[in-house]
Amino acid sequence: MVQAQASEHRTERRSSRARIVSPAVLVVDDVEANLVSLEALLEGMGCEVVLARSGNAALRELLHRDFAVMLLDVQMPEMDGYEVARYVSQDPATREVPIVFLTAMHEDPASVLRGYTSGAVDFLFKPVNPAIVRSKVRVFLELYRGRRQVEESRLALEQSHAELADAYQNLAATQSQLVQSAKMASLGELVAGVAHEINNPLAFVKSHLHTARRSLGLIDGGVRPGLDPAALQHWERAQNRLSEMGLGIERMTDLVVRLRTFSRLDEGEVKTVSVRECVESVLTISRHRLGERIRVTTEYGEPDLLECYPGLLNQALMNLVSNAIDAIEGEGVVTIRTGGGRGQYRISVADTGLGIPEALRHRVCEPFFTTKPPGQGTGLGLSITYSIVKKHQGTLDIDDNPGGGTLFTIRIPERVEKEGGEA
Ligand SMILES: Nc1ncnc2c1ncn2[C@@H]1O[C@H](COP(=O)(O)OP(=O)(O)O)[C@@H](O)[C@H]1O
Ligand SMILES: [Mg+2]
Repeated sequence: MVQAQASEHRTERRSSRARIVSPAVLVVDDVEANLVSLEALLEGMGCEVVLARSGNAALRELLHRDFAVMLLDVQMPEMDGYEVARYVSQDPATREVPIVFLTAMHEDPASVLRGYTSGAVDFLFKPVNPAIVRSKVRVFLELYRGRRQVEESRLALEQSHAELADAYQNLAATQSQLVQSAKMASLGELVAGVAHEINNPLAFVKSHLHTARRSLGLIDGGVRPGLDPAALQHWERAQNRLSEMGLGIERMTDLVVRLRTFSRLDEGEVKTVSVRECVESVLTISRHRLGERIRVTTEYGEPDLLECYPGLLNQALMNLVSNAIDAIEGEGVVTIRTGGGRGQYRISVADTGLGIPEALRHRVCEPFFTTKPPGQGTGLGLSITYSIVKKHQGTLDIDDNPGGGTLFTIRIPERVEKEGGEA
């Protein structure tokens, strides 16, 4: 069973904004005394100082976090500073970390050149001058903060761009739903108008027919004996036709009632209505599409009366019935079942049509999702149905119909909470 979910999931994009963390400086030296003095020197600069006693230890630290600058001793046993620099500048994860070499070799142009080619951006010569170290480190810290801010703004921009795109998509979907609802509402108005226009002439035809039949009945006894067999035949045929007209008029009256039920223009209000009447009115409106090829069976359970937004519920049923008709190629059956119990009301529409592949079920309620050719499907029917069911605080489930085809089930509370909170 798939419980339909509409577009709200689309907006569940996770925020991936980077946070500005306090910058860190990595100091790499194999001589403990140098580490201690550099750490003391960098105190109070607003940065964390991380100490590494070998090239390997430095590479391990670099795996774990980002550094604003690395102060790297050149002469170290095992892995010297140049080798560390080479690793750092080759790895995409670390190559942005600026390297400042600490070297005792005064003004040795060859080693300075080697340092630069292995990835250094600067040199500090031992014994270090505290003022120079602090001012260089300060520059790198500022650079780092600037870089993080640029990155932060880029992510924020990306995030708001994504939010804007989502909002735009929601807006477009809502707008189309509104247009479609407006169409359904104007269909309701049209139906109401037609029902009203038919109703007036129908009322007087009905009343005149009644008068004509009663008048003929009153003179029947006096007229019959004087008629020859041919005239009597005409007299009886006329009376038969009048009673058949009566049946036709009954059907038209019934139709007008159903049209009126369908077109409820009171959709803003919660009302208690007969579910059977709602379903029958929807079937009346769909009669021309059902034709001879689709048989409809209805199983109306108890209770028949339901508190709901009747105009909206009719729209939802209309969409389900209309999809069921579309899904049946050739002959088939649409089965509608209604009924409540234990606080929940269920209305199901099953068809013997094509069915919905499992993989598509979670998508069919998305606005604009359609598998029908352009011009035939808008992809809005189920998304509107879903919104209507939500408005009733209910659920819309999609299952395989045991007889083949699809089974849609609307479940709503027997008492709908009115919007605004009161029961
Ligand atoms: N009863 C059904 N049987 C098979 N497929 C269905 C049924 N109801 C809906 N669908 C599928 O869901 C899609 C979306 O339905 P809907 O939102 O009403 O839009 P539309 O009918 O305009 O395509 C349909 O195109 C169809 O693929
Ligand atoms: Mg549809």
